Amino acid sequence: MANGTGKLAVVTGASSGIGFELAQLASADGYDLIIAADETDIHDAAAKLKAEGANVVSIVADLSDEEGVEELVGEIAKAGRPIDLLFANAGRGLGHGFLDQDDTEWLRVIDTNIVGTLLLLKKVGLQMRDRGEGRILITGSIAGFMPGTFQAVYNGTKAFIDSFSFALREELRDTGVTVTCLMPGATETRFFERAGLLDTKIGQDEKDDPADVAKAGYDAVLAGEGDVVSGWKNKLQSSLANVTPAETLAKQHRKMAEPGSADR
Ligand SMILES: NC(=O)c1ccc[n+]([C@@H]2O[C@H](COP(=O)([O-])OP(=O)(O)OC[C@H]3O[C@@H](n4cnc5c(N)ncnc54)[C@H](OP(=O)(O)O)[C@@H]3O)[C@@H](O)[C@H]2O)c1
Repeated sequence: MANGTGKLAVVTGASSGIGFELAQLASADGYDLIIAADETDIHDAAAKLKAEGANVVSIVADLSDEEGVEELVGEIAKAGRPIDLLFANAGRGLGHGFLDQDDTEWLRVIDTNIVGTLLLLKKVGLQMRDRGEGRILITGSIAGFMPGTFQAVYNGTKAFIDSFSFALREELRDTGVTVTCLMPGATETRFFERAGLLDTKIGQDEKDDPADVAKAGYDAVLAGEGDVVSGWKNKLQSSLANVTPAETLAKQHRKMAEPGSADR
């Protein structure tokens, strides 16, 4: 890889949405990129980034399991230099009632959002700690603050990630490695279509621009902040969630995510 600033950023889930925007921001800042996703669309994203002047390598890897994570780690090793910025962003949602969800689908949500993410964080985190330098942005969600009725597994994974991110940050205090959690609210990406949520209120409501969300996360990770909730409405929603009983939050989530709620 040739380079601009000589610095390297790795972005998972960069084929679309928030991850693509994060890759654009890092590239505009002079970072060389390694971007990964599960489908070949990632190469189209790389072509778009290249057309904008990025120095980018793309890799198709299923980051829900160890094999896929190892493929990405192998690609990073080929670059022959340390990672300065890691965006652990790949993730997927899943709507409908838990008992009606296909087992392979909800397991994939847990494997992608939690298992694969942690496997990658472990590998990259060890390298960064050995070097005494590095910045990590993990894409959590304000969904982690509320029980996700009709999106129960997804919200559970984001509660895990939001919590894990703060704990890892504290464990790495004084090592030169910072961990930041980006907590978006509903954002206009392929997420809702892929999660089968298009017939829901949350699927149809107006959403945040992924470029704004990514910018909030990008600025926060460079500043080494602990977390960022993007957008004032989401800041308000997450603050209220902290003082609202879980039962009430679960009822509110039903109104947003129940199948057919778009028409009510
Ligand atoms: N959109 C929202 O409202 C919202 C709100 C809060 C948090 N988030 C979080 O933001 C992150 C990005 O989502 P997005 O909204 O930008 O949605 P998106 O446009 O669907 O992007 C998701 C990205 O993750 C990749 N991905 C999913 N499963 C993968 C796997 N097993 N292995 C490798 N890559 C995988 C996708 O690649 P493929 O297409 O190749 O699978 C895609 O590049 C996710 O962690 C999501 O949970 C989203």
